[in-house]
Amino acid sequence: MAMLDVKDLSVDFLVEGRKLPAVSNASFSVEKGEILALVGESGCGKSVSCMALARLVPEPPGVYSGGSITFHHEDKTYDVLSLDKKNLREFRRHRISYIFQEPSASLNPVFRVGEQIAESIYLRGDVEDEATARKEIISVLKQVGIAEPEQKMLCYPHELSGGMQQRIMIAMALASKPDLLVADEPTTALDVTIQAQILELLREIRGKSGMSIILVTHNLGIVADMADNVVVMYAGHVVECATAKTIMQEPLHPYTRALISAVPRLQHQTEKLSTIPGNVPSPANYPGGCRFFGRCQLADTLTADKQALCISTIPEIQEKRKGHSCRCHYSK
Ligand SMILES: Nc1ncnc2c1ncn2[C@@H]1O[C@H](COP(=O)(O)OP(=O)(O)O)[C@@H](O)[C@H]1O
Ligand code: SF4
Ligand SMILES: [Mg+2]
Repeated sequence: MAMLDVKDLSVDFLVEGRKLPAVSNASFSVEKGEILALVGESGCGKSVSCMALARLVPEPPGVYSGGSITFHHEDKTYDVLSLDKKNLREFRRHRISYIFQEPSASLNPVFRVGEQIAESIYLRGDVEDEATARKEIISVLKQVGIAEPEQKMLCYPHELSGGMQQRIMIAMALASKPDLLVADEPTTALDVTIQAQILELLREIRGKSGMSIILVTHNLGIVADMADNVVVMYAGHVVECATAKTIMQEPLHPYTRALISAVPRLQHQTEKLSTIPGNVPSPANYPGGCRFFGRCQLADTLTADKQALCISTIPEIQEKRKGHSCRCHYSK
């Protein structure tokens, strides 16, 4: 039994009387201690899927229109989409934490960083005295690689660099001792060296604490040496799921293949980044059939007869090999 099990999740947004599908029938799971990467271009539904895990998509305009999110912890099962207020609060406090791309989304400019970490500790409910909290703040700051924690805890966020703020945000998330850490493009705003340090830190944390991590990224290059498993999303659909190794070495979906050929290679840093021609359609204009039609290189090689199926019918996600699913009528 997986720790987190997402089944056929659909999330829509009600915009000007229309129901726009941001996430459609998404299924994936996360085991205890696993790093799962959620990959896809901007607008594909990665953040909405992650926010939904703790029912954080605002309603309205968001609507949870189908599926389930089940979380197991010891002998307790949380059916996230139908928790009452009290259990939802408990779930958010103890089971799941988020870190985002912009530290400013989580750090409050008017409080010292130590006070903000203390807040996460107190919210857990098992620490009440200042001395214990202080010890924990220092320990968690050390854990995220911050030197001179006694001084740094007294700083305001603006006194720290971007990479340092990101570490503080991770410290806050760790201080709540979650079972699952959701890192939504945590390094996109940072320069390459700091990115690598933050990713290494996340890997270390998983190694030491056995925490599960969902790492959202649009860079498949990161995934290869970080993640155990990968979920690729395109236009609100999960289009491929497999182990990271399989995704990198034997991708099945034409979108995953295109993403892999767009990964920048270090030795060619001076070359222009290759991107996939065309754009992700917006939920207001999803085609009736496969949402990747129009950008799909495999479809370009098909006869008009075969393309007709791509155009008319959304492919189901299917297990093509053991542990390897793909949503395409024609990839084998
Ligand atoms: N509050 C909102 N209102 C309307 N549409 C939204 C809202 N939040 C996200 N969306 C739409 O949902 C889709 C998925 O967004 P998102 O999950 O943020 O993508 P990603 O994280 O993969 O870049 C996008 O088309 C986005 O425009
Ligand atoms: S169903 Fe057709 S358009 Fe969609 S990914 Fe497969 S070949 Fe391409
Ligand atoms: Mg996002």
